[in-house]
Amino acid sequence: MANKLHSRREFLGTGLGAAATVTIIGSAAKASATGVTAPVGEGPFYPIHKQSDRDADLTRFDGSTERAEGELVIVEGKVLDDQGNPVPGALVDVWQANANGRYHHELDPNPAPRDPNFQGWAQVLADDKGHYRFLTIKPGAYPVDENWSRPPHIHFKVAKRGHHELTTQMFFEGEPLNEVDALFLALTKEERESVVAKQEMGQTKDGEEAIHLRFDIVLKKA
Ligand SMILES: [Fe+2]
Repeated sequence: MANKLHSRREFLGTGLGAAATVTIIGSAAKASATGVTAPVGEGPFYPIHKQSDRDADLTRFDGSTERAEGELVIVEGKVLDDQGNPVPGALVDVWQANANGRYHHELDPNPAPRDPNFQGWAQVLADDKGHYRFLTIKPGAYPVDENWSRPPHIHFKVAKRGHHELTTQMFFEGEPLNEVDALFLALTKEERESVVAKQEMGQTKDGEEAIHLRFDIVLKKA
């Protein structure tokens, strides 16, 4: 299973430029020092159909030759326990809307276009140091009702035996819609800090410009 999950490592492995690597280290681990990552609701669009391609590259789906539409995003971080220890083997289960704000889910009422090249869902395992990483595109905002648009966000479920499973959402820094999002506003200041990824610019192995996000996840021990 681990091999399958990491089979697109060529996009995500050691290929990050040295400059990008240096820039993320300074912003790392702030959330981990301030307690567990805040839970945020699962929402209605957790995948309900089997999907064999759930690897760490969401920008291609089932061998598609074209990339999904949207701005490239590398998300990486550590899964830690509430004492700061890494949690190797944690399952990091992520799903998100495409660049148009549409989910791969038949109950999504958003009429925005689907993207056949977008994987939409990934399950990656934290390595022996608790580190995880995946490549995706920036999700679009989408309407909930006429008065509320969700800001760009990525849904996470993180599980490892001996720890409380965490369901949350990762937010992007500086998004104006964060400030009017009912789910974000329901969080305390400290909780908000725990769910907003630290953002830098980076590059993929192939030298493509990408938003580089650092998102450490802190689980409460059972
Ligand atoms: Fe969502």
